[in-house]
Parts: sequence; C-alpha cells; structure tokens
Amino acid sequence: MNALQTYISSHEYAKVAILGMGGTGKTYLASTLDFPVQRIFYLDVVGAFRKFLGAAPDMQIFEGRIAPEASAIKPLLAHYTARRFIFDISLMRRSEMVKLADNLAEYLLIENKQNCAMLVDECGELLPQDGGYYSEMLESCIRIGRNRGMTFSVLTSQRPQKVNKNALALSDIYCILRTKHYLDLEQIRNLLGLGTKEFYEEEAALAPRIKALQMGQYMLTDGLATSWHGGEK
Ligand SMILES: Nc1ncnc2c1ncn2[C@@H]1O[C@H](COP(=O)(O)OP(=O)(O)O)[C@@H](O)[C@H]1O
Ligand SMILES: [Mg+2]
Repeated sequence: MNALQTYISSHEYAKVAILGMGGTGKTYLASTLDFPVQRIFYLDVVGAFRKFLGAAPDMQIFEGRIAPEASAIKPLLAHYTARRFIFDISLMRRSEMVKLADNLAEYLLIENKQNCAMLVDECGELLPQDGGYYSEMLESCIRIGRNRGMTFSVLTSQRPQKVNKNALALSDIYCILRTKHYLDLEQIRNLLGLGTKEFYEEEAALAPRIKALQMGQYMLTDGLATSWHGGEK
C-alpha cells in the first residue's frame, strides 16, 4: 500500500492536495486511491482519470456535454447505482464546467445521504486564483463537507500557484511531486508556512529535494511530519 493510501486508510476524514509538474504521476496516484465510503466522485477536468480508471466494473462515466443544471444532476445520481462516478467535463465550456461542479457539490452537500469522496483533477480550472469562473460550492464542499458526508477530498494541480490559496489551504495533507517552477515552489512554501531560508537554503531544505524527485516519487507532509515515498508503479 502506498504511503498516501495508508494515510487515507488511517484517517476518518482527509483533505489531500497532490501538487507537482505535469507528467509526474499526480493523476495516476490519485486514481489508485480507495476510500472507505459509499460513493466516489471524480471531476475529470482534463479527461485523465478515465484513462486510468475507465475500465473499472463499478464505474459510471458521464462525458461530453453533461447537462450542468441542478435539475439534471439529481435524477442522474438517483438513477445510477455505481459506486464510482467519473464526470469527464474536459469537453465542456469553462462556464459550464464550473456550473456542473457547483451543482454537483451543492447536491452532495444538501441532498446526498451517503458518505462520499470527491477527487478533482487539475482543480485550478474550477478553483482559480485569479478570478473568472469559480466554483464556490466546490470550495464549500471541501470546507464544510466533512460534517455532511463528504468525508474525503483530493485536489490535484500542476500549477499550484494558479489555484485559489484559501481552497488549497483547507488541505490536511500535502503530497508534493516534482516541482521546479519558482512560483509554484513559493505557493508550496506558503502553504506549509515555511520561511524562505529554511525552504530553499538550509541543509535539510525541502525545495532542492522537491526539484529532484523522479516520476511517481513524492513528499508527504501534514505541516508537522514530512516523509518521502514512491516511484514504484
Ligand atoms: N509511479 C509511476 N511509475 C511509473 N509510471 C508512472 C507512475 N505514475 C504515473 N506514471 C505514468 O506517467 C504518465 C503521467 O502520469 P500522470 O499521472 O498522468 O501525470 P500528471 O497527472 O502528474 O500529469 C502516465 O502515462 C502514467 O502511466
Ligand atoms: Mg494529471
């Protein structure tokens, strides 16, 4: 079992942020995770989750231009009995993607009676830092979901600097894969509440090690304890 799965399996609730450059293994890692819940929802922003998960027998995939209205989502989720749902929203307009995320999050917060996990790939598309369309209900879902059955959430991003800081800061644990861009390292440093000197320069500084990670390797930190893992598929 990988270290992130071990963390999830031993915490009743967990909010996870998986951050790192494109192609370092974030989506693959997220797709391997299982959760002790009744239903798992994947918001597949770039159509990557389904590459890894599409053939699973307990999976229902929605794709194309999915009707984003609340009135459409409710009957959809009532109709299908799958345990896992992929919403491949990669072909939708940004405004519609965000509307779908908003209405799905609202449904899960208000009407859903089952324990759930929600995974959002490339969450910067739905929770951007710099204005534009933003899913407030998705942020609420992460913020208050644990009181309403949303017991796990996983966000991934290849450009953490472009993700809303407040949304990312809700995470309980950060899973950091290889990152080289200075602004993304700065975002990670800020999220972990570390000073520039201790993050970049001191002997045990994290930044040089984060830059040197290989495919699938990651640093896991809850802000107190930090450990290094992975690489094996
Ligand atoms: N731990 C791993 N070991 C070997 N190959 C991996 C590993 N994780 C991911 N890959 C492969 O690397 C490619 C990129 O992985 P992906 O998860 O899509 O990256 P990201 O989401 O960070 O852009 C995929 O083809 C995947 O199969
Ligand atoms: Mg990815």
